[in-house]
Amino acid sequence: MRLGIISALHEEQAGLVEAMRGPSRLIHGMRDYVAGQLWEIDAVCVLSRIGKVAAAMTATTLVEKFGVTHILFTGVAGAGDKTVQVGDIVVAESLVQHDMDASPLFPRFEVPLTGQTHFQPDAPLSMRLVGAAQDFLELDFLDAVGEGERRAFGLARPRVHRGLVASGDQFVNDRLRLEAMNGALPGLVAVEMEGAAVAQVCHELGVPCAVIRAISDNANENAAPDFMRFVKSIAAQYAFHITRRLCRDLKEAPLQPRSDSAGT
Ligand code: ADE
Repeated sequence: MRLGIISALHEEQAGLVEAMRGPSRLIHGMRDYVAGQLWEIDAVCVLSRIGKVAAAMTATTLVEKFGVTHILFTGVAGAGDKTVQVGDIVVAESLVQHDMDASPLFPRFEVPLTGQTHFQPDAPLSMRLVGAAQDFLELDFLDAVGEGERRAFGLARPRVHRGLVASGDQFVNDRLRLEAMNGALPGLVAVEMEGAAVAQVCHELGVPCAVIRAISDNANENAAPDFMRFVKSIAAQYAFHITRRLCRDLKEAPLQPRSDSAGT
C-alpha cells in the first residue's frame, strides 16, 4: 500500500513529515509533497490548503502522479450536532457537498450527472481509523494534551463518532445556518471544507479513502476564535498519534485488496 495523507493546514499535520524515514520532497502544482516511510508504511504527506477545489486537486495529484493506493484526510471540523463536542473525533461514514445545489435541474446536493448526493469512504480503512482514534483517546490523550489545554477547552472525556460529514466552501459560524443544515442533512456530525471533494475524487478514481476530523468548534458565532485556538495548540497531537496508531495497525495487519476497483 502507499498511503496519501492530506490536511488542509500545517497545524493539522505538524510532526508527521518530521517523523518520516527517508523523506524526499517534490513541489508540484504549488504544493509540497513529501514521500517516505511513516512507521514502516509507504506514505506521501501533503497540505492541500483550504476548500473543495484545493482538496480535489491534491487528491487527484496524489493518485495520478504519486501512485498512492489509499488516501487519508486528517484535520479539524465544526460540530454538526449538539451531541458532538469540541475535542471529540469524527470518522466519516458518508460525505456530502452541502453547497452543491443545481436544483431544479438536479436534486439538491446531487453532484450533477453522477446520480449521487453522498459519497462513501472505504469501510475497512475507516474501521481501522475508528480503532486508532479510540486507542488514541484511551491510551495517549492524557499525555498528548496537557492539563492546561484540556481545562481551557473543556475536554473531559472526548468520544469518537461516526456519521455524515458535510463539506462546502464556507466556514460555518452561524447557529441558524447550522440548524438549517441539520434540517436538510439528517445524521450530520461535522462540517468542514474538503472531505466530500476528496471522497468524490477517490470514488471516481477507485481509490479507497477515509476522513477523520477532530472537532475544533461548534460552527456558531464563536467558531473562528475557537478554531484558531484549537488548531494552534491541539490539532497536531490528534493527527500525529492517530496516524501513528493507524500506520502501526496497517503494518501489523495489512488491508485486504478491494475487489470492486471502480476507477481506471
Ligand atoms: N473547519 C473547522 N471548523 C469549521 C467550521 N466551523 N466550518 C467549516 N469548516 C471548519
